[in-house]
Amino acid sequence: MNGAGTMPQQDLLRPILRLGVNIDHVATIRNARGGDHPDPVRAAEIVAQVGGDGITAHLREDRRHIRDEDLRRIQAATSLPLNLEMAPTEEMVRIALAHRPHAACIVPERREERTTEGGLDAAGLHNHLAPVVSRLQEAGIRVSLFIAPDERQLEAALRLGAEVVEFHTGEYAHADGERRAVELKRIADLAALAVKNGIEPHAGHGLTYENVQPVAAIPQLAELNIGHYLVGEAVFVGLEAAVRRMRELMDAAR
Ligand code: PXP
Repeated sequence: MNGAGTMPQQDLLRPILRLGVNIDHVATIRNARGGDHPDPVRAAEIVAQVGGDGITAHLREDRRHIRDEDLRRIQAATSLPLNLEMAPTEEMVRIALAHRPHAACIVPERREERTTEGGLDAAGLHNHLAPVVSRLQEAGIRVSLFIAPDERQLEAALRLGAEVVEFHTGEYAHADGERRAVELKRIADLAALAVKNGIEPHAGHGLTYENVQPVAAIPQLAELNIGHYLVGEAVFVGLEAAVRRMRELMDAAR
């Protein structure tokens, strides 16, 4: 299997590190007042102007932030690749097939959680995920699985034929000191193993200016997806400056 992407890469062992910006929380703020401001499409346009490499959006079952109509508007407004985060449900597969985003990142989803709290159990859900992965791929959508940095889950992703795995960096982001070093090593080891097996590794969740650099320095990673922190920083410095700063930190770590 060849996990190389369609985007430019320096080489397979140290690809260019792309920044996908998750704009969900622009929609969270919009929805708090029920109107149309701030518009996540405007955020997507700014990300494109300042050199972001992709837009990530999670269409949740309860539509708490991004809505169906936003997907169409984001796709119409920017030429950046859209990475649609989605639960592996029939409803979401149908929406993905209708919108045909560049990539679909399959995530676990529970209604009561505040955010995606853990990785997908790709091993335990093989039979459920296999037709989801193949239907998306048959439509030309690149499939990513959001998994913990765990060898069993990576093997399951390989068996499913996913082109990409996105490692959940939440454990790393929430740990300090020695624990953080252990979590970082898990991500680094699994990123190397992924590339060795022809699958493209990404990472994301809970990344900030303070913790992004050790992750960005992992040479095999091809993409980071970052949302909540960037939208939070945008309140103080603007989205443009926040994305630029994150990009600078990532480049400096590379
Ligand atoms: N990647 C995936 C698969 C996610 O589910 C999320 C959160 O929606 C992110 C990246 C971004 O995480 P954060 O908002 O904490 O930066």
